[in-house]
Amino acid sequence: MAYSEKVMDHFANPRNVGEIENADGIGEVGNSKCGDIMKMYIKVENDIITDVKFKTFGCGAAIATSSMATEMIKGKSINDALKLTNKAVMEALDGLPPVKVHCSVLAEQAIKAAISDYYQKQGIDPEPFVGKVPHCDECGCH
Ligand code: FES
Repeated sequence: MAYSEKVMDHFANPRNVGEIENADGIGEVGNSKCGDIMKMYIKVENDIITDVKFKTFGCGAAIATSSMATEMIKGKSINDALKLTNKAVMEALDGLPPVKVHCSVLAEQAIKAAISDYYQKQGIDPEPFVGKVPHCDECGCH
């Protein structure tokens, strides 16, 4: 299966790449399948994700899914962002080859990790909202 035009577009021109200084939440996750790492930064105001940026060592599919995922949560409430699944991101990109599905999980997990970090910084236990988020140092990939 070839990559869709949307995947190629987001891979060639990824949106929201970089870092946010003074981010309200930072999430870093590793992919247990390939060992690639993703870092996600969010800015939050009144429960709305006003800005989001990512950096990844992941492959083209990871870049494309993160680019799309960040576009999908920007301007949304934290609750809506938590509902975003890698499946929805893949659908928005018109699909991914089956061997690349694991790459799309990085974006979903990194968003959850960043929101979890945001809650922790507010002194709120994130687990009731976010559930258990695997931390980068737990995946054993490096
Ligand atoms: Fe690691 Fe795609 S192969 S993120």
